[in-house]
Amino acid sequence: MKIRVLGSAAGGGFPQWNCNCRNCAGVRDGTARARARTQSSIAVTGGSGGCWALVNASPDILAQLRANPVLQPGRAPRDTAIAGIVLVDGQIDHTAGLYMLRESTRPWPIWCTDSAYADLTRGNPILQVLSHYCGVDRRRIDLDGERFTVEGVAGVEWQALPVAGKPAPYSPNRAVPVPGDNVALIITDAVTGKAACYAPGLGAMEEPVWRAMQSAACVLVDGTFWTDDEMIRLGFSHRRARDIGHLPQSGPGGMLEWLEQLPAGTRKILIHVNNTNPILDEDSSERAELTRRGIEVAWDGMELVL
Ligand code: MLT
Ligand code: MN
Ligand code: ZN
Repeated sequence: MKIRVLGSAAGGGFPQWNCNCRNCAGVRDGTARARARTQSSIAVTGGSGGCWALVNASPDILAQLRANPVLQPGRAPRDTAIAGIVLVDGQIDHTAGLYMLRESTRPWPIWCTDSAYADLTRGNPILQVLSHYCGVDRRRIDLDGERFTVEGVAGVEWQALPVAGKPAPYSPNRAVPVPGDNVALIITDAVTGKAACYAPGLGAMEEPVWRAMQSAACVLVDGTFWTDDEMIRLGFSHRRARDIGHLPQSGPGGMLEWLEQLPAGTRKILIHVNNTNPILDEDSSERAELTRRGIEVAWDGMELVL
């Protein structure tokens, strides 16, 4: 199984169009050693090659497709290597790209939970709109841990686990989150049995996802914020990381403490990194701390083989 990181940044991307924080200004004018990154998405294919599942449809999907020619095999006048789309939530950074995929020659098979489906047909009715173009073949993601497969992506098994998080601001559930607003995906190679745990939004570590992380060969987890008050300190928001469904890396009970407890052989990767996060600066002390702890930061184009 191969996982290709299409976009490793959180909502807004890096640099964010209207942001002049240290990182964004630094990557723009070349004074910070940092790579630009597009918004959150990965693609997954089985051992035998062939088609891919797109996990999250980023607002940057068209640039991501251009940067990853393997997703355009060119077998027919209209073609794509994307066999289906799996969504971990209904947020803008994971769904706005669906509009850009409207020229599909067949209805898109889209896997999502009931609560994400409700958001995407009510608060932000993207799936309704898409049904006027290529159509949508919605597949339900159950929360009972039942395995599913994405047709066309042979040799890969999927499971979703509800995680603590926050639905998008337009969600009817915004004030009272329900299980399934955000999920972690356990993506397993059917032959090697090796699994990746992908959780770009993880508001708190709870038992089911923690168990899954402990048995995964590789974890790709919420790398949004370094500190809980990162956006407050910069004057960009009044909300803490935890309030918007992202466990910060530093501090008591933070992601670093959890990752520390994983088995030595587990590959640990932070993904969905917000542009304000100091780990994006490769010369920062925070990045050095990650390196010391054996934690990687995902980048666009990173490929994992499991
Ligand atoms: C989040 O996960 O909190 C986001 O990246 C929000 C967004 O899409 O702007
Ligand atoms: Mn996001
Ligand atoms: Zn910024």
